[in-house]
Amino acid sequence: MVSPLLALTPVVQSAIAAALGEQFREADPVLRASQFADVQVNAALALSKKVGLPPREVATKIVTALEAMPATGDMCETLEVSGPGFVNVTYKSDWLASLVDDIAADDRVGVVTQQREVIPIDYSSPNVAKEMHVGHLRTTIVGDSLARTLEHLGHHVVRQNHVGDWGTPFGMLIEHLLEVGEGSAEAGLLVSDPNAFYQGARVKFDAAEQAEPTGSAGDFNVRARSRVVALQAGDPDTMRLWNELVDLSKAYFNKVYSMLGVTLTDDDLAGESMYNDDLRGICDELESSGLAVMSDGALCVFLDGYTGREGKPVPLIIRKSDGGYGYATTDLATIRYRVAKLGANRALYVIGATQALHLNMVWDTARKAGWLPESVTPVHVQIGNVLGENRKILKTRSGASLRLVALLDEAVAKAEAVIDEARPELDADTRSAIAWQVGIGAVKFADLSVAHSSEYVFDLDRMVSLTGNTGPYLQYVVARVRSIFRSVGLDPLSQHSPVVLGEPQERALATALLRFGDVVAEVGATYEPHRLAHYLFELAQSFSAFYEFCPVLKAELDSVKESRLTLCALVLRVMITGLDLLGIEAPERM
Ligand code: ARG
Repeated sequence: MVSPLLALTPVVQSAIAAALGEQFREADPVLRASQFADVQVNAALALSKKVGLPPREVATKIVTALEAMPATGDMCETLEVSGPGFVNVTYKSDWLASLVDDIAADDRVGVVTQQREVIPIDYSSPNVAKEMHVGHLRTTIVGDSLARTLEHLGHHVVRQNHVGDWGTPFGMLIEHLLEVGEGSAEAGLLVSDPNAFYQGARVKFDAAEQAEPTGSAGDFNVRARSRVVALQAGDPDTMRLWNELVDLSKAYFNKVYSMLGVTLTDDDLAGESMYNDDLRGICDELESSGLAVMSDGALCVFLDGYTGREGKPVPLIIRKSDGGYGYATTDLATIRYRVAKLGANRALYVIGATQALHLNMVWDTARKAGWLPESVTPVHVQIGNVLGENRKILKTRSGASLRLVALLDEAVAKAEAVIDEARPELDADTRSAIAWQVGIGAVKFADLSVAHSSEYVFDLDRMVSLTGNTGPYLQYVVARVRSIFRSVGLDPLSQHSPVVLGEPQERALATALLRFGDVVAEVGATYEPHRLAHYLFELAQSFSAFYEFCPVLKAELDSVKESRLTLCALVLRVMITGLDLLGIEAPERM
């Protein structure tokens, strides 16, 4: 399976070598889609300095060399120099049509399976007994899309939901659970409103800290502290209560995951507690190899290049002065485990951008310790903030932290209002089923259409709109294509007729369809799902332009009708597959 770009790239490379000399054979030909041509070669600008010729002259030499190559004759209709030194290429219609025939016959619609790699992806990773916040929403959506995409490309993805399920707060949480009673309504808050439970524990703890100590072991803060000790010692009763907390939280996470249609299951849980037994060994190894040293009572790793104010070295603290291990130690354990036990070729951490320093220090330490060989690439997929209308981190109006479930409910309610207005003739059940897919799809698409490291303003009204660069618009295009096939009683999956490309809108649509495989591969290489989101929007626009200009069912010639139906079927298949890689459902009708 070759896309036009994949086919053209080596030809342009040879032409550059022929025109400018063999030393330029490896030059990046920079092929881009352009509104003025099927594709544009943008290499001349970069090369002009190296060869000491004006860019347009370089472009002319490339065109002359291309024209002399037999392969060009099969693929290209016209080649011309344009602008400051671009080469505009128009493909031969027959050639394009034959490539479209190929992807129509391919059940992966042009997505090439890659050499299998093992890729653990750390994403979502919320905290036990805490509300998932919008930051968690984003890592969940982006991470899930990357997991789906890399899997589709043929890789072995290992989902790692690194939940925060360990640490000192568990002392107070367990004591609070005991006081409110297991099975009580208050304990049920862990599933419905975890922050309320957490706050309940916190308030008691803080009050006890401020009160005069009675000297008795019955003070809440005293009990909470000894609980932590019992937890670390693996006391069976304490472990049972801890498990209870984790289970209730799992029920909450799973509720959010199922609302969102996220692929994470309990089997993907790989929380902080999983690494408890590794932490001491990690510290010992680093200390005996001399990588870690004691500083102010804490065991620290000092690395070159990490300095704070006034050039003071920043330590990675791996054992605190009270003997406790922290976030850094656990993350050393994660990278060591993912490399040694999971056999990772690449390891993705889909985590807030603010944790970049932490991750880099952890990875540098792991490299020095020999746990992270050069052959393994760790990747921080940085997640940017979600902002409210005031451009501050999204909170409720009262400033309280936002309940994710409430936010998703609101998205579905807004979508329901939009669907009720647009499709009053559908029955209420159908409308609410559609509203569910549209509301959740809207939130996910809005998130995935922005670069994952950029911040964006959470604006539900814009997200659920049926027009513009939105999830609902793409879902609507899918439903429209489905209705074409429904109206004539045809199955789009068995629609494979030879494609003929006459009108410019047909050529543009064909070119867009043929990019799908390259775009999916690009997402897998750059970890940027917004490229796919953007592509699907462009495809939807190409389809709309085609559908407006080129009659499908009323085409004059039967062969043209069949060809156009085949293009429609391909749009459907690419859209459904593409949306699925983003984790977005495509309604049957809308
Ligand atoms: N639980 C952390 C948080 O809520 C995120 C953990 C991310 N994963 C990791 N390996 N550090 O911020």
